Amino acid sequence: MKLLVTGGAGFIGSAVVRHAIAAGHEVINLDALTYAACLENLASVEASPLYRFEKADIRDRDALARIFETHRPTAVMHLAAESHVDRSIDAPDAFIDTNVTGTAHLLQEARAYWERQGRPEEFRFHHVSTDEVFGSLGAEGLFTEETPYAPNSPYSASKAASDHLVRAWHATYGLPVVLSNCSNNYGPFHFPEKLIPVVILNALAGRPIPVYGDGGNVRDWLFVEDHAEALLTIIGQGEVGRSYNVGGNAEAKNIDLVRMICRILDRLLPGAAPHEDLITFVTDRPGHDRRYAIDASRLRDELGWQPRVTLEEGLEQTVAWYLENRPWWQALQDRAGVGDRLGLG
Ligand SMILES: NC(=O)c1ccc[n+]([C@@H]2O[C@H](COP(=O)([O-])OP(=O)(O)OC[C@H]3O[C@@H](n4cnc5c(N)ncnc54)[C@H](O)[C@@H]3O)[C@@H](O)[C@H]2O)c1
Repeated sequence: MKLLVTGGAGFIGSAVVRHAIAAGHEVINLDALTYAACLENLASVEASPLYRFEKADIRDRDALARIFETHRPTAVMHLAAESHVDRSIDAPDAFIDTNVTGTAHLLQEARAYWERQGRPEEFRFHHVSTDEVFGSLGAEGLFTEETPYAPNSPYSASKAASDHLVRAWHATYGLPVVLSNCSNNYGPFHFPEKLIPVVILNALAGRPIPVYGDGGNVRDWLFVEDHAEALLTIIGQGEVGRSYNVGGNAEAKNIDLVRMICRILDRLLPGAAPHEDLITFVTDRPGHDRRYAIDASRLRDELGWQPRVTLEEGLEQTVAWYLENRPWWQALQDRAGVGDRLGLG
């Protein structure tokens, strides 16, 4: 495939680009390089003849039209987004602009290009979304692809809106789309404002480890490399017009996840143990969803994908990666807002 990957300088997008190139696909990485981007995530592939980079904003239709014409991709993987829930509470406009309007512009330019090409059946527009569009679960149950949408944050509402646009561009114009909704990712190159890197980096610095509310919020964690494999499976084999839930079968309460990380750090850095003493409960996020959990059986049964990395193994690898890659995260900690408490409403 010749893939146009949007958001390829971000956390998940860069994993997708690395995996796609390893699998022999050509990749054009289209990214606006916002505060969340880091081209160093792509150091291992930037010299590959299969890789190209286009600095562009998905809100810029002229740039999108030029990129489609210049590179003539056979598929689009759309990951570019504003992605941090806390930032969406303080400043929702950027989320509407990029996640909703930007996705609409990308759909329009993808459609125009696809029509100019004679509407090839094998073209794909893969929209990468989140399980947060489904809202919050009680103690029981799982999100399936049939779960009604009920987003609660500006971030998840903007992603829900973008999912609906993609669905409509298929139903109305016949654009060959696939969609996926994934649970929380973690792993190497995770931007240092998200929960798992915050825990690791605060623990390393001997600073309080903030846990929102009572720490009882449950997330289903997926190692980012497994997500990248799932996305390549879906774009390669997924049925047009269908959506696929992606999850790790690894539910954990935030407080239990934080304790797991502390125990790994205790083993690797016994001099600073016990890291658990740094745990500090802080004011909860407004509208904080209580529980997310994914039923990924469609993806397993129809396309044969399953997560390979357990939560224990993935956390171990992630903590080790942060210990070995200090210059990477130290540079990002200087960016605006990183390390500040955001999203108090
Ligand atoms: N992180 C998760 O746990 C998770 C889970 C499920 C789904 N997702 C979805 O996966 C996608 C990627 O998430 P992530 O965590 O890698 O995000 P990220 O914030 O790490 O990366 C987003 C990338 O998009 C780029 N970008 C932002 N606005 C842009 C614009 N207007 N034009 C072009 N590029 C722009 C940024 O520069 C950045 O490189 C998002 O669509 C997100 O909603 C994330």
